[in-house]
Amino acid sequence: MANLERASFGSKLGVILATAGSAVGLGNIWRFPYMTGQNGGAVFIMIYIFCVLLLGIPCMISEFIIGRHGKANTARAFSILSGGTLWSLIGYMGVLTGFLISSYYAVVSGWCLEYIWASLLGHLQGDPAYISSYFTTFSQDPVKPVFWTIIILLATFLIIENGVRDGIEKASKMMMPTLFILLLVIVVASCMLPGAQEGIEFLLKPDINKMTGDVFLAALGQSFYSMSIAMGCICTYASYFSRQTKLANAAIQIGVIDFVVALLAGLVIFPAAFSVGVNPDSGPSLIFITLPNVFQQAFNGIPIPHLGYMISVLFYILLSMAALTSLISLHEVSTAFLEEEVGTTRKRAALAVTIGCIVMGIVCSLSLGAWSGIRVFGMTIFDAFDFVTGQLFLPMVGFLTCIFIGWFVPHKLVRDEFSNGGTLRNQTLFHYYLFLVKYVCPICILFIFLHQLGLL
Ligand code: PHE
Repeated sequence: MANLERASFGSKLGVILATAGSAVGLGNIWRFPYMTGQNGGAVFIMIYIFCVLLLGIPCMISEFIIGRHGKANTARAFSILSGGTLWSLIGYMGVLTGFLISSYYAVVSGWCLEYIWASLLGHLQGDPAYISSYFTTFSQDPVKPVFWTIIILLATFLIIENGVRDGIEKASKMMMPTLFILLLVIVVASCMLPGAQEGIEFLLKPDINKMTGDVFLAALGQSFYSMSIAMGCICTYASYFSRQTKLANAAIQIGVIDFVVALLAGLVIFPAAFSVGVNPDSGPSLIFITLPNVFQQAFNGIPIPHLGYMISVLFYILLSMAALTSLISLHEVSTAFLEEEVGTTRKRAALAVTIGCIVMGIVCSLSLGAWSGIRVFGMTIFDAFDFVTGQLFLPMVGFLTCIFIGWFVPHKLVRDEFSNGGTLRNQTLFHYYLFLVKYVCPICILFIFLHQLGLL
């Protein structure tokens, strides 16, 4: 059903904060620091910046163009631009990827809530073996993680059902600045620790010897994930942009915010880890196992009472807010799809998506514990979700989107969206953009894809 009075964001700030809310998430605070730790610190960051400019921003602009021109959910927007040809399938794939990811993203977001609770109650105090077993016992429990997954999905539902302006935009306007302030407070505390210098250097002083092909590909993949590309989120949000929104400017601003938050997260974790002699290359367990240890050890020596306790609580609050704003955008992809394609009310669509995510989330969560024996191609269901969405669908949708915009959609249409109907003087920038989308992005994405499949 065509939506005559389509919802929209109410202000420029709303556009930037909501979209940055989608981009800033677990990818910045959890994935970026451990990838940096594993891939040589400053060198990784340098290459990452390059990837954001080369790949992240042009792909984001492409999704903006599709979403704003289509003024509809991702599947329909692709269909409108492609005149109903087979290219519409990319849109459907985007919606499906968004939905699948939201289920397991909700599980990890639920873990963040548990960690707020656990740090509030002082349960994250103890020796390293205890903290490690705390995480394993918790994540494999049949009830607790499911409980938190349901809570975070209900919170998402309550925001989404209020609509684009009163729900998503309002929530982003409250959470994003709070998140930023909390992050700054913890950065300052972390960088003032004795011995923090070494961590700061690790992050900011590149060692060129560490530059390898693997580091390059890891940075490419991270830029993609971190900017929420290829999952329908950016496209869906862009369908709520006004005709005045300057797409290239918005993408650059969001890219910068996303990078700054990731860098600040690094400035929390590395100085604290180096100050107590912990190596920050532990991989995905960094946030849930290494970090509680590090906070405890690093801040307990400081003569401010309960500093370690407070930092820990604040850190998990900020992590949960970052996760929530991303989860909202993932949820919105399917909600907008159902609302428009089935022709139901927003509330019903949101409820159906929430129930779907809860069911899938329960499956994902149990697959780490009680159902760990069930294997899909040798992986737990949780890992299979991660693999199919992150390593197969995501690069495929990204690649096809670039080919679609670069080679299929008439350049006049692309230029009109890029320049707001010719009112913006950004011709030169447009040519750079088109070159990147036509050649550079597809080739880079193809490399990531082959690398992730172990073929390169
Ligand atoms: N960009 C989010 C993050 O950094 C993850 C995400 C990907 C969210 C895709 C929505 C869509 O955590």
